[in-house]
Amino acid sequence: MPVEMIGIKTLYDICFSFPENYDDFMLELIEKSTKLLGASRIALISGEGEQRRCLVSRGFSGEREIYECINQTGSGKEKNCCFLYPFSNGTPGLLYLEKITPFTELDNLLCGMFSRRVEDIIDRKLKEKQLCRITDNMLDMISEIDEEGIYRYASPSFKNVLGYEPDDLRGQPFMDYVHSKDYARVEAALKKAVKNRTIKRLEYRYRNTAGDYLWLESTGNALLDKSGHFVGAVLGTRNITERKQAEDKLKQSIEKLKGVVEGVIQAMSLTVEIRDPYTAGHQKRVAMLASAMAREMNIPEDKLEGIRLAAAIHDIGKIYVPAEFLSKPGEMSALELNMIQMHPQVGYEILKEIDFPWPIADIILQHHERMDRSGYPFGLGGDEILLEAKILAVADVVEAMASHRPYRPALGVGKALDEIKKNSGKLYDPRAVEACLKVFYEQGFSFD
Ligand SMILES: [Fe+2]
Repeated sequence: MPVEMIGIKTLYDICFSFPENYDDFMLELIEKSTKLLGASRIALISGEGEQRRCLVSRGFSGEREIYECINQTGSGKEKNCCFLYPFSNGTPGLLYLEKITPFTELDNLLCGMFSRRVEDIIDRKLKEKQLCRITDNMLDMISEIDEEGIYRYASPSFKNVLGYEPDDLRGQPFMDYVHSKDYARVEAALKKAVKNRTIKRLEYRYRNTAGDYLWLESTGNALLDKSGHFVGAVLGTRNITERKQAEDKLKQSIEKLKGVVEGVIQAMSLTVEIRDPYTAGHQKRVAMLASAMAREMNIPEDKLEGIRLAAAIHDIGKIYVPAEFLSKPGEMSALELNMIQMHPQVGYEILKEIDFPWPIADIILQHHERMDRSGYPFGLGGDEILLEAKILAVADVVEAMASHRPYRPALGVGKALDEIKKNSGKLYDPRAVEACLKVFYEQGFSFD
């Protein structure tokens, strides 16, 4: 069997097999084993007394030196030597002696102990080799930092991604490379990791060798000692700069699109108000009040945006009503009233095909519905009416009553608030009424 094919674990068996060309075979095996074990020198001692054989790798001058070396190991003078040595029962033992190996005399007991230790070391070495192969070839970066945030290990991919030699990073503080704007956030996340033992998707900017900052994303686990104390962390890190740039572009596009939507809404709002100067500014003021009420009700920001935009064009259906009806002072005929009451439905028809991210058309359709089904166009009640429409209804009534109308003078905010308070739960949603009262009385809201 070629030496390359023999695992170091079978070394013991080979020692017993005594092939015909034993010496040559073992010498070759010994040479190869030095590399596998990471030992600087290796020696095989087998047999007892006159039978004793000693085979050594390059680096040993002879048997005497081997014994000197073994005896010196305890004093820390020698390091990383490997010996095959016969135990008292005739079994060869494998010794792996490191600088730190604490023994002063070689006896059978120690041989047994070190023999077991060598098994661990072989196992560890093989695992290390496997791990190195993985980390050396990974695109993502692997690192280990100690409890002070100092690099203990950085994988070779740091060179490819950031330009740093892993050895140069070792001993450097991780935080020294983090962008000042992300410093506090990263520091807080690391502190949290001590408590939670894990780091979840931490995004931050990190300086490369050219002095530019790249966006990185790290996840990892805290390292604890046997008594549970934090002794560092292992981080898996990837370059997300391209993803961040794409996200930024998308954000800019969305902002631009939002601006366009806002512009279109404004244009639509003006279309109605140009025809109906008495209600000019009504929709804008209703939008202001409805937004303030929604905020008071802790409605999420994205939903709130839908309420604001719906309020800004809630009377768009009045475009269908002849202008003279809208500005007519005094009582209205049944026909005129009927036409005016069609405006929610007309507004819905105008907007229903637009794919807003909010139910704008439905909010507008329902803004004259009332809790007790006395509203129009469908006579919906209670939970059948969208919350957004209930908020808009209250804001609409309060603004309309507070302002001048062709058929009556302004009644004032006080009267308007009395009206919604009186009909809370009957016509108007009590949560919307409560929010409206708070907005005026506690927050000092004003239409001006
Ligand atoms: Fe209306």
